[in-house]
Amino acid sequence: MNPVRVRSTVRGVGSALPERIVTNAEMETIVDTTDEWIVQRTGIRQRHVAAEGETTSMLATRAAEAALADAGLVAADIDLFIVATSTPDYTFPAVATQVQAALGVTHGVAFDLQAVCSGFVFAVATADKFLVSGSHKRALVIGAETFSRLLDWTDRTTCVLFGDGAGAIVLEATPSDGALTSPGVISTQLRSDGRHRAKLYVDGGPSTTKTVGHLKMEGREVFKHAVGMVTDVIKACFDDAGVTAADIDWFVPHQANRRIIDASADKLGLPREKVVVTVDRHGNTSAASIPLALAVSVKDGRIKKGDLVMIEAMGGGFTWGAALIRW
Ligand code: UT7
Repeated sequence: MNPVRVRSTVRGVGSALPERIVTNAEMETIVDTTDEWIVQRTGIRQRHVAAEGETTSMLATRAAEAALADAGLVAADIDLFIVATSTPDYTFPAVATQVQAALGVTHGVAFDLQAVCSGFVFAVATADKFLVSGSHKRALVIGAETFSRLLDWTDRTTCVLFGDGAGAIVLEATPSDGALTSPGVISTQLRSDGRHRAKLYVDGGPSTTKTVGHLKMEGREVFKHAVGMVTDVIKACFDDAGVTAADIDWFVPHQANRRIIDASADKLGLPREKVVVTVDRHGNTSAASIPLALAVSVKDGRIKKGDLVMIEAMGGGFTWGAALIRW
């Protein structure tokens, strides 16, 4: 018998997207590109773009409210707020403290976590460690971004790829027998390697240019590393949990590029019908992409209680990670 212990279980999920949709046809009017190129190379057909004055903390708060409603909880039930973002409203304070205030909460702790596109996986792993330690009871884990603000809208190699949005889950510390069939976060695996900074970065910041800067990416180089890195970290989760690809009900990867998603699934032997894809609708929303995809696939009835769900991401830094969750 496994000893009784605590697991972080998913109680609710929610999301928020800006109203404005920018199609590939509209991108054709902005830069020298075609719908055909974007769809073939990335799978993206449209992205949501925040309105003037619509900020990351606003999207994060809306996603948090939706996740609380889905969980049947109120904001006062939460004592840990983590927002994964690279596009905060301000250099400081943290978006998480603004979300905490917008929800009317004055207890607990709120902070941001910055691991670019891997941010949500890093935030789930961080919240899990707080909850399992017994220090906190319920966490709002949010991925929220307004990447449209970081883009050079004259650079066709980057501006067609990204979108804005937010997603959130509520994690709750729950007594568990630790069995593979019992709900909650089963394994998290995080990695980073700072030598790759120049392949994906923003060319501004408070301590260098004193400006926000624009996103720069050597797309082909990032692509080359992505599949190997994410499959390695997923295999580490498999080994840690004692499962194989055949045990996975849903694979919810970071939504950067359809080709990366398909190549990763193929390499792991995960059938395409078990892969959640939203990159066509949302583009790459960085730290928001996984919780947005979770919200879509829970709402449409694909992810159900008891399903084994693998999330993974890779992004700037490089950072990469995966988490295995029994829903
Ligand atoms: O979320 C964080 C992690 N980020 C990623 O995972 C992104 C990883 N990288 C990628 O997804 C892909 O590398 C891209 C989608 C960015 C690019 O696809 P690619 O197949 O690697 O294309 P490429 O960069 O090799 O470019 C091929 C051609 C180039 O023309 P030449 O040099 O072959 O004449 C580009 O100039 O496509 C051209 N190109 C475009 N053409 C039309 C680049 N961007 C565009 C565009 N429209 N928007």
